[in-house]
Amino acid sequence: MKGINAIALALTATTASASLVPHYFKRASSLASAAPPVLLTQLLTRAPAHETSPSKQKNYLMFEALLIRGNRFQKLKINTVRIYTVDNSQNHDACMSALATAGIYLALDVNTPKYSINQDDPAPSYNADYLQSVFSTIDAFHTYSNTLLFFSGNEDINSVATTSSAPYVKAVTRDMKNYISARKYRSIPVGYSAADVDTLIYQTADFMNCGDDAMARSDFFAYNDYSWCDPSSFEGSTWQAKATYFANFSIPLFLSEYGCVKTTRQFQEIATLYGPQMTPSYSGGLAYEYSKEGTAPPADLYGLVEINGNSITELTDFGTLASAFSNTPSPTGSGGYRPSGSPAICPTQDSNWNVTTGSELPVFPSAAATYLKNGAGTAPGLSGSGSQNSGPASVAFASGSSVAATGTSTSTSTSTSGSKKSAADGRVIDSAPVMACGLVVAMSTLLGMALL
Ligand SMILES: *[C@@H]1O[C@H](CO)[C@@H](O)[C@H](O)[C@H]1NC(C)=O
Ligand SMILES: *[C@@H]1O[C@H](CO)[C@@H](O)[C@H](O)[C@H]1NC(C)=O
Repeated sequence: MKGINAIALALTATTASASLVPHYFKRASSLASAAPPVLLTQLLTRAPAHETSPSKQKNYLMFEALLIRGNRFQKLKINTVRIYTVDNSQNHDACMSALATAGIYLALDVNTPKYSINQDDPAPSYNADYLQSVFSTIDAFHTYSNTLLFFSGNEDINSVATTSSAPYVKAVTRDMKNYISARKYRSIPVGYSAADVDTLIYQTADFMNCGDDAMARSDFFAYNDYSWCDPSSFEGSTWQAKATYFANFSIPLFLSEYGCVKTTRQFQEIATLYGPQMTPSYSGGLAYEYSKEGTAPPADLYGLVEINGNSITELTDFGTLASAFSNTPSPTGSGGYRPSGSPAICPTQDSNWNVTTGSELPVFPSAAATYLKNGAGTAPGLSGSGSQNSGPASVAFASGSSVAATGTSTSTSTSTSGSKKSAADGRVIDSAPVMACGLVVAMSTLLGMALL
């Protein structure tokens, strides 16, 4: 938790959204002592993920659509939206101000179709060009007091083969935290949004929260859970097993997506999510998703609203979700919080988790050191030449906090073969990680975010 000075600075620097106090969220408990529990709701829309028209995409990415939708957010009584992609070369004052006025925080993914880690071939995609885009997004959003958190990645790790991208995603988390610190920005939390793959979820969570380098450990962990399909229950879904496993998890934990559509959605999980079985470890979640995307299943089943031009039609799930939220009381007291404390043990390689490098991570690219010192410079936006192949074919790994701070390392475990490839070889979009492209606004509720 950061001090009062940090808040004051953030508020001074931000005129657009001065009505909101920056949050740092902790496990459900600290809420109770710091302030009355805050029921935070997130809204996830996904409208432009497959939007190809540049003008329409720009509209979404400029958040103009969010301005139109502001009233609906408030009607749902949400307090947070998740956006999956933004154009970091644009100015977002108007939208962020509108969100702030509505009391809504932003959980922001930093990746774009052209600038992201390639889950199938991560080494070349981890490079200074990529980090320049990520850091530019931080530059564009750190001054808004309603920027709640950054996601360093989303579902990059979703199979045994793609577990090899885990150290890269964790390195990005580390680099973002180091950038925020080096630039003396407000300490906006950084963490990863995981795929809920039964055979990987615990190792993924532990990996993001392990090791001696505190800057490389996530500030929170989140996962996209679709295991609760109504009618279900704490015991009937995977929630009980997960809540048991995460009982002593030492960093904030929440669902970065939820809302199974295999059956008709009743959003019964909301009562449990904010109830005594979950609040000791969980800080709420984000219902997926705001606007209907696509016309074929399952994409057409997720939307709460349907958007046609300026007209918005509330679908059945809109009312169902709004009722579920309004029928769910805020947790009281500490929410059953159990202080714990220790980071996790780094998972060892096994038949599911194919990471052999323990807690070692890719070494921060030396060409990116200038950004920590001088800032990221001109943001590439969405039409830059991309970064997925602009790095070397293999990357040196090392451990220790000095790795990111200096861009140098002594103990490397893999060779650095510097076959530099062109930044623009044309397949960047196709190889973007699952769900890392497009704009998605997630809607849901986060609690466990303590007002500072
Ligand atoms: C595990 O990683 C090694 C390289 O470290 C690779 O050769 C192997 O194919 C991977 N196994 C799976 C199942 O992806
Ligand atoms: C959590 O910590 C408590 C108290 O130390 C312990 O009894 C319990 O077994 C732990 N739970 C897990 C899942 O590790």
